[in-house]
Amino acid sequence: MKTENKETAASVSSEKEVYEPDDINVYKPDVKDWYIPNHLQIETVTNLCNARCIMCPIDDWKRTPNIMDNEIYTEVLKKFLPYRDQLKFLSLFCCGESLLDKNFPDKVRIASEMEFNSIGIASNCDLLDDHTAQALIENGLDTVICGIDGITKETHETIRTRTNYDNIHANVLNFIKRRNESDKKTKVLIRFIRQQENKHEWEEYYDYWISRIDPEYGDDVVKFDVHNVGGELKDYESRDIIKFEAASDIICQDVFEKFLVYSDGAVALCNGDDNGFFEIGNVLETEPMEIYNGEVFNRYRQQMLEGNINNLEHCDTCTIPRSRMYKTPID
Ligand SMILES: C[S@@+](CC[C@H](N)C(=O)[O-])C[C@H]1O[C@@H](n2cnc3c(N)ncnc32)[C@H](O)[C@@H]1O
Ligand code: SF4
Ligand code: SF4
Repeated sequence: MKTENKETAASVSSEKEVYEPDDINVYKPDVKDWYIPNHLQIETVTNLCNARCIMCPIDDWKRTPNIMDNEIYTEVLKKFLPYRDQLKFLSLFCCGESLLDKNFPDKVRIASEMEFNSIGIASNCDLLDDHTAQALIENGLDTVICGIDGITKETHETIRTRTNYDNIHANVLNFIKRRNESDKKTKVLIRFIRQQENKHEWEEYYDYWISRIDPEYGDDVVKFDVHNVGGELKDYESRDIIKFEAASDIICQDVFEKFLVYSDGAVALCNGDDNGFFEIGNVLETEPMEIYNGEVFNRYRQQMLEGNINNLEHCDTCTIPRSRMYKTPID
């Protein structure tokens, strides 16, 4: 592993990059009378994490810490069984670290037995020990997104504070090894949240990790630029790396394609909605598609389709769609 760099997290220049129009992927939704999401995200752990990453608004999360029990989790999944075939992805994480839940491998098994498509997690991987790795692979995890934010221990631990780079590095290599030894096909995505503190390391990071994964499984090394999480991230200006004037006709994929359920069954608007912007409904009480085609989602969709995203509360300052426009494309 290389640990030398001309620039360090402390010395790197804070200049912002300007993107050319050719670098940008613009999202265009399928306009419908009735929307069914293609991506279900369930927050299994709320407001609990072993880390304190500098680009994560964790210190401003206000919802009560919780680990979803498996009965409620199963009840939530059952609500989506009628839509299972339209749901291309099931993500089991949101505001917290899913591997703090000792029942998490069982949650993967339950979803897999219910035949949900493409079950994935994002994790900081500090708790991805050998036992957990084998259980996740065996129980049917389709994708793990490993949050590693530097090629050097110094940079990674400057960004992902309270984590241990050497442990994470060993855990991720062990996961790849266990996957390769198994007859399962779990995809490994190594993900770099590009920001001022690590932007100088991306090329070296890419070269290092690309030679340790296996494209035969769909593995990849991807980057995603830091965003301000629904406009809520303090210090965002000092972390941001790109200069971009938000156009008024940007459309956010979340309200057209994603359905995010918090660990108590309440519904979030989107991935920028860490604290519950609105009381949209709870899937344990109301049919999910009624919520998804209700007043709030419809208003947000309509305003975006009319080119008015800048008039929408939260979206007016949120840079999530902008980061998605520049992310490394993943199949
Ligand atoms: C909130 S975390 C929860 C899952 C897990 N704890 C983790 O870090 O992977 C979900 C994802 O958001 C990413 N993330 C956190 N803050 C971000 C920011 N300001 N901009 C872009 N991505 C961010 C993390 O790297 C992670 O991939
Ligand atoms: S590991 Fe994930 S949830 Fe925890 S602080 Fe970092 S980004 Fe936030
Ligand atoms: S643009 Fe709006 S809908 Fe999309 S993630 Fe940001 S706050 Fe949520």
